[in-house]
Amino acid sequence: MIKIGILTMSDRASEGIYEDLSGKAIKELLEEWIVSQMKFDYRVISDDFELIKQNLISLSDEFKADLIITTGGTGPAKRDVTPEATEAVCEKMMPGFGELMRMESLKYVPTAILSRQTAGIRGNSFIINLPGNPKSIKECLEPVFPAIPYCIDLIGGSYIQTDENKMKVFRPKKKK
Ligand code: MTE
Repeated sequence: MIKIGILTMSDRASEGIYEDLSGKAIKELLEEWIVSQMKFDYRVISDDFELIKQNLISLSDEFKADLIITTGGTGPAKRDVTPEATEAVCEKMMPGFGELMRMESLKYVPTAILSRQTAGIRGNSFIINLPGNPKSIKECLEPVFPAIPYCIDLIGGSYIQTDENKMKVFRPKKKK
């Protein structure tokens, strides 16, 4: 059973002013790619530093998520603090994920450079930030996902299997 936390950061979506489309897009993509059984914990919260930290900690330490995907709050605006909260709860940062996502995203929008999205590890959880635009979800997750299952293997998380026709992942060493 793969445990996945989806955390949407949006003042307006958390107040019900609009629907959270990006959190839903994350769940739909994972359901399309991953064939292992999954259990989701999906939360929509405001862009509050302490609240983001608390939710990341509880998804990792209590829910015991293998993978936590956040959306929103990665930009330069005053209320955008998702990368800082991610860094505050992680033991180790994985800067390559943000670098590749920004590089790939620049093919779609020149403002991709405005996203400070990052990734890191807390315990047995791999945490990754995506921007808040629903369109950005696939644009960012598709190029980096091939490396995520092996990263989760290496930190002692659950073994993720995908439908190879939809998402081919890469594992340098076969797990026995
Ligand atoms: N990346 C992709 N792939 N597609 C996008 O549409 N939007 C950019 C950027 N990265 C975007 C993207 C914009 S306009 C901003 S401001 C930043 O992500 C930060 O967005 P966030 O604050 O909602 O996380």
